[in-house]
Amino acid sequence: MNKDDLITKDFRGYKQARLPSIDEIISRVEPETPCGEYLRRYWHPVALSSEISQVPKEIRILGEDLVIFKTKENKIGLVHKNCPHRRASLVYGKIEKNGIRCCYHGWLFSPNGEILETPGEDPDSKSAAKLRKTFKLGAYPVKEFNGLVFSYMGPMKKIPEFPHYDAFDIPEITRRPYRIDYKCNWIQVLDAIMDPVHTSFLHGQSSGIQFSKGFAEIGELEFFERGIQYLGCNTRRVDDYVWVRVNELILPNFTQAGSAFAADGTKTRYFGRSSFTRWVVPVDDNNSIALAWGNFGERGDPIEFNTKEGCERIEAGEIMDRTWEEKQETPGDAEAVEGMGSISAHKGEHLMPTDYGVMVYRRRIRKLVKSLGEGKEPPQPQQKKGDIVRTNGQDTVLRAPKRNIDDRKFIKSIGSAVMKMQFEAEKMPIKDRDNHIINKLSNMEKNGAF
Ligand code: FES
Ligand SMILES: [Fe+2]
Repeated sequence: MNKDDLITKDFRGYKQARLPSIDEIISRVEPETPCGEYLRRYWHPVALSSEISQVPKEIRILGEDLVIFKTKENKIGLVHKNCPHRRASLVYGKIEKNGIRCCYHGWLFSPNGEILETPGEDPDSKSAAKLRKTFKLGAYPVKEFNGLVFSYMGPMKKIPEFPHYDAFDIPEITRRPYRIDYKCNWIQVLDAIMDPVHTSFLHGQSSGIQFSKGFAEIGELEFFERGIQYLGCNTRRVDDYVWVRVNELILPNFTQAGSAFAADGTKTRYFGRSSFTRWVVPVDDNNSIALAWGNFGERGDPIEFNTKEGCERIEAGEIMDRTWEEKQETPGDAEAVEGMGSISAHKGEHLMPTDYGVMVYRRRIRKLVKSLGEGKEPPQPQQKKGDIVRTNGQDTVLRAPKRNIDDRKFIKSIGSAVMKMQFEAEKMPIKDRDNHIINKLSNMEKNGAF
């Protein structure tokens, strides 16, 4: 057998033609699935405030068809789509002072699902009176906050506090609510946040420079697992500067990163905060939405990006409404993650050391899902009532020219020192914490104390 024959024998298409399987446990989110149950232990954003009015709107979250509306008294209702009488869709319902009235036979429902009226039935009907008293349309509690509407879709006796993140109160940040729809499973959208290396390729090389030139540098990575907080710290050298960029995931789906445009590794920045504060919410097994605020100002992204298109570029590197040719020429995150298929076949992956973050957070979700199945409730981001959840997504750029030592080790040690500083300041009151970190970083740079 000559060499050419051997090469011919090593084509592997046929052997690998079958599509590998998906990760059923973390991909399935519909009601009564293990992960669906896990996700139903947390508050999630479900819509933008601007999408909600006295015209009912149909939405789908965690595989449930829902209708969201605002009564004439300005109360938001989030209810199951189908009327419990004969299943007409409440998206055709009419909004009244205190609820939504089904178009078909006029039953009236309050935002919490109570059946207020069954007008077609005899006023003396015992069965109608009994139903009104004993049955309710499925409904969920909502909380409107800073232009996003959140809901808790789990068992009421397990409802947690609505968590308060430090990112809600960073002074001088202008927040713009946005949503981006993805035609794929939530995990592959979430993965990108624990995959800091993709920024060097997708956002810095494959599609040209989507954010800044410095992104194309390949950094030194360090991952941190802290309770249910996962941090991916990517430290790059850009000429005489060292740029520490921290991506963040708080389980199950809260994400932050550094900035998209404010830091480029060429000028000093101390503890700049994330360009977005964002949740990746499953619509169903095959679709998801990022619901978020874009953060603009001195400590966020430049204010000129405070537009719909600016938020899209921050979220995915490119605007969303593009031709096929444009998408193929310069893919962004949407193309990268949707291209995996509606549910990525995880069994066909070959995870490498740079995928460590992806591996560990998925593993943890699997574990938490399993534990919940055994009766152990999953941890919440907020440990104690009234606590503010500390977040660490950020950019720091320090002037630290090369030294006569291994530069990869040198920059990695700077990344570690910056993270240590953040962790040590974590318990401080929020306002003091930020100033403390900023001062320490400035001193560290001034004194070359790396
Ligand atoms: S189907 Fe809604 S009132 Fe009859
Ligand atoms: Fe990305």
